[in-house]
Amino acid sequence: MYTDLVRETFVSKEGMKLDIELKDADAISESEKEELMELSIKMFPEYADLYRVNKYFSAIEPQKSWIVRHEGKIVATGKFLTKKAVVDGEELQMSGFGLLVDTEYQKLGIASRLLDLNIKVASEIGSDFIYATTENVVVDAMLRGREFALLDTKVKYHMPDTDEQKNESKRVYVHELKSGVLDRLQTANELNIGVGAV
Ligand SMILES: CC(C)(COP(=O)(O)OP(=O)(O)OC[C@H]1O[C@@H](n2cnc3c(N)ncnc32)[C@H](O)[C@@H]1OP(=O)(O)O)[C@@H](O)C(=O)NCCC(=O)NCCS
Repeated sequence: MYTDLVRETFVSKEGMKLDIELKDADAISESEKEELMELSIKMFPEYADLYRVNKYFSAIEPQKSWIVRHEGKIVATGKFLTKKAVVDGEELQMSGFGLLVDTEYQKLGIASRLLDLNIKVASEIGSDFIYATTENVVVDAMLRGREFALLDTKVKYHMPDTDEQKNESKRVYVHELKSGVLDRLQTANELNIGVGAV
């Protein structure tokens, strides 16, 4: 299903060299998991207990994770996943992602690069659309700048452990990768993204 994993050196405007890699969840080493956990706790201390248990920056286990290093140290990450979404009974393939950049490494263009790579990978694997949620106005601007549209349709998911149904309360954006998909999503009564919020 997936194309070759991505690996590149990204040079920021300031000339900082960053090594970017998209890794399968099962290829992430224990020491990388520890480092990712520390970064997640640093950035979102309110979820420290969850991260200590899960060791990943997500409510559900990521299928793949971006690992961004500067001189060997992990300074940014993000999940990437692909799953079936149900739009009024019709199945579509969606890709979703999350982004996290260490405070000292923000505003260097790392998240922008990862966002572009997420769009590229999702398109290559044949997803119908990319899905993102946010409460961060910086991310709103980044998404709007890349032809993501705010979705008005109600989005549902269910919790991985309890199966409880939830409505997504964050702002949801979609970027269509196949013509007509955005219209289909915007005019639907409901989008059900299955297990877990992205
Ligand atoms: C949001 C976040 C991912 C942005 O990462 P980043 O690597 O700093 O983003 P970039 O350097 O690619 O900047 C993208 C754009 O946002 C702007 N920007 C970044 N941080 C900003 C800030 N704190 N205030 C205002 N603008 C900001 C940049 O100037 C850039 O604008 P441009 O494209 O017009 O030049 C990062 O701040 C972060 O991890 N925050 C905490 C976790 C989080 O909120 N994650 C997103 C969850 S949806």
